[in-house]
Amino acid sequence: MTMSKKDAVEDKDEILEKYRHAGAILADVHSAARERTVKGTSMLELAEYLENMIRERGASPAFPCNISLNEDAAHDTPKADDTRTIGEDMVKIDIGVHIDGYIADAAITVDHTGNTDIVRASEDALGAAIEIVRDGVNTAEIGEVIEQTMHNYRCNPVVNLTGHGLQQYVQHAPPQIPNRKVDHGTILRTGDIVAIEPFATNGVGKISEHGSAEIYSVKKSKPVRLPAARELLKKLEEYHGLPFAKRWIKMERLDHSLIQLERAGVLQAYPVLREVSGGTISQAEHTMIVLEGGCEVITAERV
Ligand code: CO
Repeated sequence: MTMSKKDAVEDKDEILEKYRHAGAILADVHSAARERTVKGTSMLELAEYLENMIRERGASPAFPCNISLNEDAAHDTPKADDTRTIGEDMVKIDIGVHIDGYIADAAITVDHTGNTDIVRASEDALGAAIEIVRDGVNTAEIGEVIEQTMHNYRCNPVVNLTGHGLQQYVQHAPPQIPNRKVDHGTILRTGDIVAIEPFATNGVGKISEHGSAEIYSVKKSKPVRLPAARELLKKLEEYHGLPFAKRWIKMERLDHSLIQLERAGVLQAYPVLREVSGGTISQAEHTMIVLEGGCEVITAERV
Protein backbone atom coordinates (compact mmCIF):
# COMPACT_ATOMS: atom_id res chain seq x y z
CA MET A 1 0.00 0.00 0.00
CA THR A 2 1.24 3.43 -0.81
CA MET A 3 0.62 6.56 1.15
CA SER A 4 -0.28 9.80 -0.53
CA LYS A 5 1.26 12.92 0.88
CA LYS A 6 -2.08 14.07 2.20
CA ASP A 7 -2.37 10.93 4.34
CA ALA A 8 1.13 11.23 5.65
CA VAL A 9 1.01 14.84 6.72
CA GLU A 10 -2.00 16.16 8.50
CA ASP A 11 -3.18 19.50 7.35
CA LYS A 12 -2.91 22.32 9.93
CA ASP A 13 -6.65 23.04 9.67
CA GLU A 14 -7.49 19.36 10.14
CA ILE A 15 -5.43 19.34 13.32
CA LEU A 16 -7.16 22.47 14.63
CA GLU A 17 -10.54 20.87 13.87
CA LYS A 18 -9.56 17.87 16.02
CA TYR A 19 -8.61 20.18 18.89
CA ARG A 20 -11.94 22.02 18.55
CA HIS A 21 -13.90 18.79 18.43
CA ALA A 22 -12.10 17.46 21.53
CA GLY A 23 -12.79 20.78 23.26
CA ALA A 24 -16.51 20.72 22.41
CA ILE A 25 -16.85 17.20 23.82
CA LEU A 26 -15.00 18.24 26.98
CA ALA A 27 -17.30 21.23 27.46
CA ASP A 28 -20.36 18.95 27.36
CA VAL A 29 -18.70 16.52 29.79
CA HIS A 30 -18.10 19.38 32.22
CA SER A 31 -21.72 20.53 31.94
CA ALA A 32 -22.77 16.99 32.89
CA ALA A 33 -20.20 16.98 35.71
CA ARG A 34 -21.71 20.14 37.22
CA GLU A 35 -25.15 18.54 37.33
CA ARG A 36 -23.90 15.27 38.77
CA THR A 37 -21.44 16.47 41.40
CA VAL A 38 -24.00 16.58 44.22
CA LYS A 39 -23.72 15.40 47.80
CA GLY A 40 -24.00 11.63 48.12
CA THR A 41 -22.71 10.91 44.59
CA SER A 42 -20.27 8.02 44.31
CA MET A 43 -16.91 9.33 43.11
CA LEU A 44 -16.24 6.11 41.20
CA GLU A 45 -19.58 6.25 39.38
CA LEU A 46 -19.03 9.92 38.56
CA ALA A 47 -15.55 9.33 37.11
CA GLU A 48 -16.70 6.36 35.05
CA TYR A 49 -19.79 8.17 33.80
CA LEU A 50 -17.73 11.13 32.58
CA GLU A 51 -15.02 8.96 31.00
CA ASN A 52 -17.66 6.85 29.22
CA MET A 53 -19.35 9.98 27.92
CA ILE A 54 -16.03 10.88 26.22
CA ARG A 55 -15.80 7.42 24.63
CA GLU A 56 -19.45 7.46 23.50
CA ARG A 57 -18.75 10.69 21.66
CA GLY A 58 -15.99 8.93 19.68
CA ALA A 59 -13.01 10.45 21.53
CA SER A 60 -10.76 9.10 24.29
CA PRO A 61 -9.84 10.33 27.77
CA ALA A 62 -6.41 11.99 27.55
CA PHE A 63 -5.94 11.09 31.22
CA PRO A 64 -8.13 9.62 33.97
CA CYS A 65 -10.91 11.85 35.26
CA ASN A 66 -9.29 13.64 38.23
CA ILE A 67 -11.70 14.25 41.11
CA SER A 68 -9.69 15.97 43.83
CA LEU A 69 -11.21 17.21 47.10
CA ASN A 70 -10.49 20.18 49.39
CA GLU A 71 -6.72 20.40 50.15
CA ASP A 72 -5.91 18.08 47.23
CA ALA A 73 -5.11 20.00 44.07
CA ALA A 74 -4.98 17.19 41.53
CA HIS A 75 -4.20 13.58 40.60
CA ASP A 76 -6.88 11.92 42.70
CA THR A 77 -8.93 9.44 40.73
CA PRO A 78 -11.12 6.71 42.25
CA LYS A 79 -9.75 3.21 42.83
CA ALA A 80 -11.56 0.22 41.27
CA ASP A 81 -13.25 -0.50 44.64
CA ASP A 82 -13.58 3.12 45.80
CA THR A 83 -16.50 3.71 48.19
CA ARG A 84 -16.08 7.47 48.69
CA THR A 85 -18.99 9.81 48.05
CA ILE A 86 -19.12 13.57 47.55
CA GLY A 87 -19.85 15.41 50.81
CA GLU A 88 -19.32 18.99 52.00
CA ASP A 89 -16.29 19.23 49.76
CA MET A 90 -14.63 21.56 47.31
CA VAL A 91 -14.46 19.30 44.25
CA LYS A 92 -12.05 19.86 41.35
CA ILE A 93 -12.91 17.94 38.18
CA ASP A 94 -10.01 17.98 35.72
CA ILE A 95 -10.68 16.26 32.40
CA GLY A 96 -8.70 15.57 29.25
CA VAL A 97 -10.17 14.55 25.89
CA HIS A 98 -8.14 13.61 22.84
CA ILE A 99 -8.80 12.83 19.21
CA ASP A 100 -5.83 11.16 17.51
CA GLY A 101 -3.62 12.59 20.28
CA TYR A 102 -4.83 16.19 19.95
CA ILE A 103 -5.73 17.08 23.53
CA ALA A 104 -8.20 19.45 25.14
CA ASP A 105 -7.62 19.89 28.89
CA ALA A 106 -9.96 21.73 31.26
CA ALA A 107 -11.04 21.82 34.89
CA ILE A 108 -13.92 23.14 36.96
CA THR A 109 -14.58 23.45 40.68
CA VAL A 110 -17.91 22.44 42.18
CA ASP A 111 -18.13 23.76 45.72
CA HIS A 112 -20.14 22.33 48.61
CA THR A 113 -18.14 24.12 51.34
CA GLY A 114 -19.42 27.68 50.98
CA ASN A 115 -15.92 29.08 50.28
CA THR A 116 -17.19 31.01 47.28
CA ASP A 117 -14.26 33.44 47.23
CA ILE A 118 -11.71 30.66 46.69
CA VAL A 119 -13.69 29.41 43.70
CA ARG A 120 -14.09 32.90 42.27
CA ALA A 121 -10.38 33.56 42.71
CA SER A 122 -9.35 30.81 40.28
CA GLU A 123 -12.24 31.45 37.88
CA ASP A 124 -11.59 35.19 37.69
CA ALA A 125 -7.84 34.65 37.42
CA LEU A 126 -8.43 32.36 34.45
CA GLY A 127 -10.77 34.91 32.88
CA ALA A 128 -8.24 37.71 33.37
CA ALA A 129 -5.49 35.55 31.86
CA ILE A 130 -7.60 34.67 28.81
CA GLU A 131 -8.24 38.41 28.28
CA ILE A 132 -4.54 39.06 27.62
CA VAL A 133 -3.62 35.96 25.60
CA ARG A 134 -2.66 36.87 22.01
CA ASP A 135 0.30 36.54 19.65
CA GLY A 136 3.34 38.04 21.40
CA VAL A 137 2.13 37.86 25.00
CA ASN A 138 4.77 36.86 27.55
CA THR A 139 3.79 34.04 29.93
CA ALA A 140 5.27 36.16 32.74
CA GLU A 141 2.47 38.71 32.15
CA ILE A 142 -0.10 35.92 32.38
CA GLY A 143 1.37 34.75 35.70
CA GLU A 144 1.30 38.28 37.08
CA VAL A 145 -2.35 38.82 36.16
CA ILE A 146 -3.29 35.49 37.77
CA GLU A 147 -1.49 36.29 41.01
CA GLN A 148 -2.92 39.82 41.25
CA THR A 149 -6.47 38.61 40.64
CA MET A 150 -6.15 36.03 43.41
CA HIS A 151 -4.78 38.55 45.88
CA ASN A 152 -7.95 40.60 45.31
CA TYR A 153 -9.80 37.66 46.87
CA ARG A 154 -7.19 37.29 49.65
CA CYS A 155 -6.14 33.99 48.11
CA ASN A 156 -2.75 32.68 47.04
CA PRO A 157 -1.93 30.94 43.79
CA VAL A 158 -0.44 27.45 44.09
CA VAL A 159 2.98 28.42 42.80
CA ASN A 160 4.41 25.01 42.02
CA LEU A 161 1.62 24.08 39.61
CA THR A 162 1.55 25.66 36.15
CA GLY A 163 -0.33 25.76 32.91
CA HIS A 164 1.34 24.23 29.87
CA GLY A 165 1.50 23.76 26.14
CA LEU A 166 -0.18 20.83 24.38
CA GLN A 167 1.20 18.73 21.56
CA GLN A 168 0.09 15.50 19.91
CA TYR A 169 0.09 12.82 22.65
CA VAL A 170 2.00 15.21 24.95
CA GLN A 171 -0.20 16.54 27.72
CA HIS A 172 2.43 18.69 29.42
CA ALA A 173 4.46 20.25 26.63
CA PRO A 174 6.45 23.48 26.92
CA PRO A 175 6.03 26.30 27.69
CA GLN A 176 5.09 26.34 31.37
CA ILE A 177 2.55 29.05 32.14
CA PRO A 178 3.18 30.29 35.68
CA ASN A 179 0.46 31.12 38.18
CA ARG A 180 2.50 33.95 39.71
CA LYS A 181 4.79 36.79 38.71
CA VAL A 182 8.10 35.42 37.38
CA ASP A 183 11.21 37.15 36.03
CA HIS A 184 11.46 35.39 32.69
CA GLY A 185 8.65 33.95 30.64
CA THR A 186 8.10 32.67 27.13
CA ILE A 187 6.47 34.47 24.21
CA LEU A 188 3.30 32.78 22.91
CA ARG A 189 2.76 32.72 19.16
CA THR A 190 -0.23 32.36 16.82
CA GLY A 191 -1.20 28.70 16.52
CA ASP A 192 0.20 27.66 19.90
CA ILE A 193 -2.18 25.43 21.87
CA VAL A 194 -1.99 26.14 25.60
CA ALA A 195 -3.84 25.24 28.79
CA ILE A 196 -3.98 27.85 31.54
CA GLU A 197 -4.86 26.45 34.96
CA PRO A 198 -4.79 28.68 38.03
CA PHE A 199 -5.22 27.00 41.43
CA ALA A 200 -6.29 29.32 44.27
CA THR A 201 -6.01 28.57 47.98
CA ASN A 202 -6.47 30.06 51.42
CA GLY A 203 -3.29 28.20 52.39
CA VAL A 204 0.34 29.09 51.69
CA GLY A 205 0.10 28.06 48.04
CA LYS A 206 2.41 25.06 47.76
CA ILE A 207 1.68 21.41 47.09
CA SER A 208 3.64 18.22 47.64
CA GLU A 209 3.08 14.59 46.66
CA HIS A 210 0.98 12.56 49.04
CA GLY A 211 0.50 8.79 49.34
CA SER A 212 0.52 6.18 46.60
CA ALA A 213 -0.62 6.72 43.02
CA GLU A 214 -3.71 5.64 41.11
CA ILE A 215 -2.46 7.30 37.92
CA TYR A 216 0.60 6.31 35.86
CA SER A 217 2.07 6.87 32.42
CA VAL A 218 4.72 5.11 30.35
CA LYS A 219 7.62 7.55 30.28
CA LYS A 220 10.21 5.35 28.62
CA SER A 221 9.49 1.96 27.09
CA LYS A 222 12.32 -0.55 27.39
CA PRO A 223 12.68 -4.35 27.42
CA VAL A 224 11.50 -5.97 30.65
CA ARG A 225 12.23 -9.48 31.80
CA LEU A 226 9.18 -10.50 33.84
CA PRO A 227 6.50 -11.94 31.47
CA ALA A 228 3.58 -10.35 33.37
CA ALA A 229 5.26 -6.94 33.31
CA ARG A 230 6.00 -7.37 29.61
CA GLU A 231 2.35 -8.22 28.95
CA LEU A 232 1.23 -5.14 30.88
CA LEU A 233 3.62 -2.89 28.97
CA LYS A 234 2.21 -4.25 25.69
CA LYS A 235 -1.30 -3.49 26.90
CA LEU A 236 -0.30 0.08 27.81
CA GLU A 237 0.72 0.88 24.21
CA GLU A 238 -2.84 1.95 23.47
CA TYR A 239 -2.36 5.04 25.67
CA HIS A 240 0.59 6.33 23.60
CA GLY A 241 2.38 7.57 26.72
CA LEU A 242 -0.66 9.46 28.06
CA PRO A 243 -1.63 8.89 31.72
CA PHE A 244 -3.94 5.97 32.59
CA ALA A 245 -5.75 4.85 35.77
CA LYS A 246 -5.02 1.62 37.60
CA ARG A 247 -8.74 0.88 37.51
CA TRP A 248 -8.71 0.91 33.68
CA ILE A 249 -6.49 -2.20 33.61
CA LYS A 250 -8.00 -5.62 34.28
CA MET A 251 -5.10 -8.01 34.86
CA GLU A 252 -4.01 -10.55 37.45
CA ARG A 253 -1.35 -9.31 39.88
CA LEU A 254 -1.55 -5.84 38.41
CA ASP A 255 0.07 -4.14 41.43
CA HIS A 256 3.10 -6.40 41.20
CA SER A 257 3.61 -5.69 37.50
CA LEU A 258 3.16 -1.95 38.05
CA ILE A 259 5.85 -2.00 40.74
CA GLN A 260 8.20 -3.90 38.42
CA LEU A 261 7.71 -1.37 35.63
CA GLU A 262 8.05 1.56 38.01
CA ARG A 263 11.32 0.15 39.39
CA ALA A 264 12.63 -0.41 35.85
CA GLY A 265 12.10 3.30 35.17
CA VAL A 266 9.39 2.61 32.59
CA LEU A 267 6.48 4.13 34.47
CA GLN A 268 5.91 7.51 35.98
CA ALA A 269 3.57 7.56 38.99
CA TYR A 270 1.34 10.55 39.78
CA PRO A 271 0.59 10.67 43.52
CA VAL A 272 -2.04 13.07 44.80
CA LEU A 273 -0.83 16.69 45.08
CA ARG A 274 -1.81 18.12 48.47
CA GLU A 275 -1.56 21.67 49.81
CA VAL A 276 1.26 21.61 52.37
CA SER A 277 -0.51 23.86 54.91
CA GLY A 278 -3.89 22.12 54.53
CA GLY A 279 -5.47 25.04 52.65
CA THR A 280 -8.57 24.49 50.55
CA ILE A 281 -7.88 24.64 46.80
CA SER A 282 -9.99 25.60 43.80
CA GLN A 283 -9.01 25.18 40.14
CA ALA A 284 -10.16 26.58 36.82
CA GLU A 285 -8.69 25.57 33.47
CA HIS A 286 -9.30 26.05 29.77
CA THR A 287 -7.45 25.09 26.61
CA MET A 288 -7.08 27.72 23.91
CA ILE A 289 -5.60 28.38 20.49
CA VAL A 290 -3.43 31.52 20.42
CA LEU A 291 -4.50 33.94 17.68
CA GLU A 292 -3.07 37.13 16.23
CA GLY A 293 -5.20 39.46 18.35
CA GLY A 294 -6.56 37.17 21.07
CA CYS A 295 -7.35 33.52 21.57
CA GLU A 296 -10.02 30.92 20.87
CA VAL A 297 -11.07 29.03 24.00
CA ILE A 298 -11.96 25.54 22.79
CA THR A 299 -13.28 24.11 26.08
CA ALA A 300 -15.89 26.78 26.97
CA GLU A 301 -19.21 25.33 28.11
CA ARG A 302 -22.25 26.40 26.10
CA VAL A 303 -24.69 28.34 28.27
CO1 CO B 1 -3.73 20.87 32.41
